[in-house]
Amino acid sequence: MGPELLHLSAAGVSLVLDCRGPGLPSVAHWGAALDDTEVRPDLPVAAAPQPIGFSVDGAVRVSLIPEQSAGWLGSPGLAGHRDGRGWATAFETTAVEQRADAVHLKAIDATAHLELAIDLELHPAGVLRTRAAVTSTAPGTYWLEHLTIFLPVPERTAELLDFTGHHLRERQPQRTAFTHGLRVRENRTGRTGYDSAYLLCAGTPGFANRGGEVWALHTAFSGGARSIAERTYHGHSALGGGELLLPGEVGLAEGETYQTPWVYAVHSADGLDGVSSRFHTYLRSRPHHPTKPRPVVVNTWEAVYFDHDLARLTELAKAAAAIGAERFVLDDGWFGSRRDDTSGLGDWFVSPQAWPDGLAPLVGAVRELGMEFGLWVEPEMINPDSELARAHPNWIMSTGDRLPRPARHQQVLDLANPAAFAWVFQRLDALLTEHDISYLKWDHNRDLVEAGHPGSGRAAVHDQTRAVYRLLDELRERHPGVEIESCSSGGGRVDLEILERTDRVWASDCIDAHERVAIQRWTSLLIPLELIGSHVGAPLSHTTHRSLPLAFRAGTAILGHLGVEWDLTAASPADISELSDWVTLYKELRELLHTGTLVHADVTDPAYSVTGVVSQDKTDALFAVIATSTSASYPPGTVGLPGLDPGTIYHVRPQPPGDVADGNAAAWGAGLPWCTPQGVRLNGRTLGTVGLRLPVLHPDRVLLVRVTAVSARGRVTE
Ligand code: DGJ
Repeated sequence: MGPELLHLSAAGVSLVLDCRGPGLPSVAHWGAALDDTEVRPDLPVAAAPQPIGFSVDGAVRVSLIPEQSAGWLGSPGLAGHRDGRGWATAFETTAVEQRADAVHLKAIDATAHLELAIDLELHPAGVLRTRAAVTSTAPGTYWLEHLTIFLPVPERTAELLDFTGHHLRERQPQRTAFTHGLRVRENRTGRTGYDSAYLLCAGTPGFANRGGEVWALHTAFSGGARSIAERTYHGHSALGGGELLLPGEVGLAEGETYQTPWVYAVHSADGLDGVSSRFHTYLRSRPHHPTKPRPVVVNTWEAVYFDHDLARLTELAKAAAAIGAERFVLDDGWFGSRRDDTSGLGDWFVSPQAWPDGLAPLVGAVRELGMEFGLWVEPEMINPDSELARAHPNWIMSTGDRLPRPARHQQVLDLANPAAFAWVFQRLDALLTEHDISYLKWDHNRDLVEAGHPGSGRAAVHDQTRAVYRLLDELRERHPGVEIESCSSGGGRVDLEILERTDRVWASDCIDAHERVAIQRWTSLLIPLELIGSHVGAPLSHTTHRSLPLAFRAGTAILGHLGVEWDLTAASPADISELSDWVTLYKELRELLHTGTLVHADVTDPAYSVTGVVSQDKTDALFAVIATSTSASYPPGTVGLPGLDPGTIYHVRPQPPGDVADGNAAAWGAGLPWCTPQGVRLNGRTLGTVGLRLPVLHPDRVLLVRVTAVSARGRVTE
């Protein structure tokens, strides 16, 4: 056994584990940093709830895997049984090993015949990640229902924020009071889901972008998942996460182990921006985080849909190169009988009908134009109308006696079947070997419904999700230079485990900039801008039929990994010229946007939002002032620019081509005084507190503001 109180600390966060027993370790403190001298035996005593009458006698300890035997009467951390026995556990900790900022715990229940292993890691950015594993140590089968890791939060977390959404409107925030009881967000769609809880946040009353204390948890899994927030009347509150298992999905024979997904958690003393900053720093420190400048993409989907034609697509490629694109992605429709979405999935051979000379002429043209070539695939899926389904009907996931209801005319391939896995791997490997492909857009266009192994009929979302991870891992190992985008009918698969093996997420099929403002803002709560695909669409949005000016479409799309999804061959010369200017600006700004700190002002006017990216050395920043409706105030009020260095003087002025303060005031009044190329020079403290007057903007307009340091510590050098 290790020390009785174990202290992990990084970047202003502390986690104190109470390993004094009896039973499993519990979290004595997770929140603002303590120094080692503060971690005294009295710490858990001071915060322990008072034993009350008519409940179990003695102190109740909420461990990482809470148990009834320890007095916890909320939702259990571990649920399972052996034919009705062994359902209640009383684990004893047998080992506590600490290596730098990682802890490994072991525990045993000799009566239930189970072993437990828990890993905890505190990253230098203050991101905690934890997972657990349960092993059966007796003959027979231990049927696991769920294994959920709990992290306690204090009672002052009065509000919860989590996310919901649907196709074309992913990751929309919802706030509720954190009341007594159990709030469970279950995902039963077999993929991460448009409506996944995403980041479950508990915070002090009114926590906001820049203020309040927040504890946030992300369950990193691309199959079934559960995220929970529980508050008991016994004075305990906790967030938890784990995999949602289907009936009979995990049965452990003697010696077999089940491992949970990683559960990520952060504490922020500085509101939601503090949460993002920790996650972004963590993600950027991963060895495989993309570091080469994020290339400007042109994707063919909304330009041509299934109308694949070499001449037309070569023209599109030329137009793409002309505006400065660096990657050309051929979307759905190039293979098998795939002339629409009713057939062909699974037949990963270039269609001789659509591509009589194969893909080589297009790939060659794209490469000659100086762009990378990317290809769309949907490897986990199969159309019943395909050669593959006709040859291997027993490769389709089902409960064994009927096919699941189709969705988009398609079914799911049972990738846990080694033969199906090998076939898909071989086809993808062949495509990547035969063609000069540097990028795959990996799509996944249906929920997993009644998803079982067809032979046994047993539930198989767990096996399928693990098999997909394996497929991606093996493919990346074979083709290390190829980048992969995670798409799932838009943004249905955005989580930190898929991002362990992909380089970009497609945030939504909705590229209407008005809708994208919220989708991108909330997607970026967890992941940084360089991982979020954001495209400039056609003047009339295909998914909402809203008509928006190019400056708004482009000025919001640059706050991500920029792409264009628009038939540029039909765009006007004026649009092409303006779009080229935006592409040039994105290239100039991408290093700032993709390495800087993302900040959001707390704007009280619901018509406006102010998003900024401040360079790590705080000498450069870009702010986007976005209006999505008219304001109740005319003119609107002022806003503080967050995240700047208080003592540095900055030059603040509009950033062309996003410098047009397009609004009524310009037509009927006079210009906004600071909104000129001369701008204003003020220090970061003044800009954060006194702030800038918001411009009068028409709805769905963006004004970009560039903020560059002209002196350090108050002395103007310019
Ligand atoms: C759904 C994706 O989200 C779209 O971008 C596009 O790739 C289509 N699938 C193609 O079928």
